[in-house]
Amino acid sequence: MVDHNRVVSGEIIDDNEEFNQLSLRPQFLNQYIGQQKIKNEISIYIEAAKQREESLDHVLLYGPPGLGKTTLAAVIANELQVNLKTTTGPAIEKPGDLVAILNELEPGDVLFIDEIHRLPKNVEEILYSAMEDFYIDIIVGQDSTAHPVHFPLPPFTLIGATTRVGMLSAPLRARFGILGHMSYYTENELAAIVERSAEVFNTKIDTEGAHEIARRSRGTPRIANRLLKRIRDFSQVSNKETIDQEIVKYALDLLRIDEKGLDDNDRELLKTMILLYNGGPVGLSTISANVGEETDTIEDVIEPYLLQIGFIKRTPRGRIVTDKAYKHLKIDKLEK
Ligand SMILES: Nc1ncnc2c1ncn2[C@@H]1O[C@H](COP(=O)(O)OP(=O)(O)OP(=O)(O)O)[C@@H](O)[C@H]1O
Ligand SMILES: [Mg+2]
Repeated sequence: MVDHNRVVSGEIIDDNEEFNQLSLRPQFLNQYIGQQKIKNEISIYIEAAKQREESLDHVLLYGPPGLGKTTLAAVIANELQVNLKTTTGPAIEKPGDLVAILNELEPGDVLFIDEIHRLPKNVEEILYSAMEDFYIDIIVGQDSTAHPVHFPLPPFTLIGATTRVGMLSAPLRARFGILGHMSYYTENELAAIVERSAEVFNTKIDTEGAHEIARRSRGTPRIANRLLKRIRDFSQVSNKETIDQEIVKYALDLLRIDEKGLDDNDRELLKTMILLYNGGPVGLSTISANVGEETDTIEDVIEPYLLQIGFIKRTPRGRIVTDKAYKHLKIDKLEK
């Protein structure tokens, strides 16, 4: 079974970690590493909004967990010099909850809604007019006293974040003027993030050490920072002054995270497909039955990174393991 606390998960694995990361979060766009395309666009829109003294258009950030959506939302609010109010889709249970939040906003403020694909339908519907024309119409009171109330709002910027953009309804999606597709980070970008985080931790790391962590972090800053933290402990216990490539390799080998950032779950999935199905094509439900995981877990948690690095491919007849993966696992391919 996939350990949901696995070190290479892009998701938050404990709340403490989230808290510790506060200091790791860049505050301004020029400290925010990578995502160049989004940054270039957003900085222009921010500048223009500030010049016109208007609120920034609504922004939708989407992409896999741990790539810096929440961080970027906070950076945008900082750059705009406005307040940031954060909440999540599932936390807003009824229209009244949203009204209470919107009511607290000052002109130009940023409202960040994480997991926006999980907003209840009736809440989503009142968001439409709020986003478009800055008002809401709600029914107040019950039965005979029920009456509509027209409620004007200050202009504000909604920043929505989601890992599942496909689950967003078309009308909601259409109301975002700025779409930011977050992509996986390159090795150089991750190495720069690791070096910056090491500075925050007051820990020394050399270039090769930072790059070794970067290569094993699955393109994801949250994983890079987590690995750095674990390795820092190894380094301290072995009385090392500086984290170098040797200690990184030693620590990550012990954690069973390989050169590509794969852990036991990833390798087991690939090996099952190879040993039982000669590398596929094999259907998702068959894989699921063999490795004892829900199909959802495979699709959302294990598969995305393997697809991203080209270790598996989706075909109409099922998943196949690529030559690249065989090579990485050092398994010879049998003739079909
Ligand atoms: N561009 C970046 N530069 C430096 N550090 C970053 C960057 N992006 C993310 N980080 C670091 O990675 C951590 C995870 O980022 P964040 O919480 O913003 O991810 P997320 O995309 O919101 O993830 P989730 O989808 O799980 O909410 C942050 O604590 C921050 O330290
Ligand atoms: Mg987040």
